[in-house]
Amino acid sequence: MQWWREAVVYQVYVRSFSDADGDGVGDLDGIRSRLGYLELLGVDAIWLTPFYTSPMADHGYDVADPRDVDPVFGDLAAFDTLVEATHEHGLKLVVDLVPNHTSSEHEWFRAALDAAPGSPERARYHFRAGRRPDGAQPPNNWTSVFGGPAWTRVHAADGEPGEWYLHLFSAEQPDLNWTNPEVWADLEKTLRFWLDRGVDGFRIDVAHGMSKPDGLPDSMAATRSGLLPGGRDGDPRFDHDDVHDVHRMIRAVLDHYPGRMAVGEVSVRDDARFARYLRPDELHLGFNFRLLRAPFEAAAVRDAVEHSLASVAGVAATPTWAIAGHDVSRPVTRYGGGELGTARARAMALVTLALPGTVFVYNGEELGLPDVDLPDEALQDPVWERSGHTERGRDAFRVPMPWEGGAPGYGFTEGVPWLPMPPEYGELTVAEQLEDTASTLSLVRRAVELRRRHPGFTGTELEWFGAPVGCLAFRRAGTTLVCALNTSDQAVALPPGDVLLTSGPLDDGLLPPDTAAWLA
Ligand code: GLC
Repeated sequence: MQWWREAVVYQVYVRSFSDADGDGVGDLDGIRSRLGYLELLGVDAIWLTPFYTSPMADHGYDVADPRDVDPVFGDLAAFDTLVEATHEHGLKLVVDLVPNHTSSEHEWFRAALDAAPGSPERARYHFRAGRRPDGAQPPNNWTSVFGGPAWTRVHAADGEPGEWYLHLFSAEQPDLNWTNPEVWADLEKTLRFWLDRGVDGFRIDVAHGMSKPDGLPDSMAATRSGLLPGGRDGDPRFDHDDVHDVHRMIRAVLDHYPGRMAVGEVSVRDDARFARYLRPDELHLGFNFRLLRAPFEAAAVRDAVEHSLASVAGVAATPTWAIAGHDVSRPVTRYGGGELGTARARAMALVTLALPGTVFVYNGEELGLPDVDLPDEALQDPVWERSGHTERGRDAFRVPMPWEGGAPGYGFTEGVPWLPMPPEYGELTVAEQLEDTASTLSLVRRAVELRRRHPGFTGTELEWFGAPVGCLAFRRAGTTLVCALNTSDQAVALPPGDVLLTSGPLDDGLLPPDTAAWLA
């Protein structure tokens, strides 16, 4: 049963979703207490960001033990209870997997630091001597995605400088050496560990990472930093051909467990190279960044949709869609902020939910939350330090969910939230929005419900209609379901059909700017 093919998957940023024990950080018991809400929202599955043992240098994407739960989030018993409760609510549970790197606190890395150059302990990572006779220059010119060099030099107990190790992200996230069989065996063990506990799938972090070219050559492209640059193609740090063998191994394990899936974070722009990750013996789904990068302009949105469809056309996979996530500015802010940004984010929610394939919704997106302007002293993302305080990082779009009531915790926590929650959250809480039929939450609920029940949401192909400049309209092929979007500054006529749902009020029967409509 390929439940993921038309699913709406809700991304839970575990730290920021719901805190049951009052320490100000979200946890597994908190998620369990909100499953009723997710059922009401109508989503099919939830994806949990990493909750494994971690010193939290990158808030859990630095994993010290991939087969245990960090105490701040709970324990394995809480996880087992959560899996069971999730299934009782009719939802699937997908967990994150971080195979490109470990934490520098992982026992393997600590052993590597204690061991000598050339030792088997160091061979699980990428240790190299530095350049220049004194070894004082990094082994190559690669930069970290989070800023600064991708190499850090280690020192012996007596302070004597030694080798360098590779980290494509923060220095606390050393890259694993994927030519080492121990690394493969350990990932397989991790996969089975969670599959045996009942998870329905994995979201694979940096699925275009892992493998590195022989000799780790210098590169021009690698000197760019940033999590979502214009494109990484031609960049030796990512999308190396050998990575496909890793995905084949993962798939071979998953194939022993019916109904489980893997979705990779595949940040590869070229459609043909993207499609390679979705061959029948690799990933089931590729997380797609095109809509996340597209501005609010009909032509750009259409281009993103067409490329996404093209990139899966030759393989059996369905496309994926997202306008939000824990690494990008929230749609309300990205599209212009305030009422304008909210109107546009609502319109884009209708566009994504009309598309064939798998839709990802990031927690708080359904509430129309904006980014939060955080004071410098509140910032925790490693990007802030590594960029020398020139980039503020991702905390602004990771502020905890407002559930009900007022400051400081808005029902998220009875303690002090790990990032400050702003006063404007009072009007955006789940409780407020559930009462208001015009709220963004009510719109998203209705759209998810129609997507599930209306017969127009079938098939995998789209037909584009001619549309005025700045507008787009498509039909799900073989059905009567039409989605129209107006990104121009004039109201336009609607395509023929009965209006099913609009993202904002119509203007005398016309589709106003910054608005989308579904018709049938
Ligand atoms: C992915 C994650 C991001 C994380 C990085 C390193 O891009 O989405 O949050 O920082 O990988 O693991």
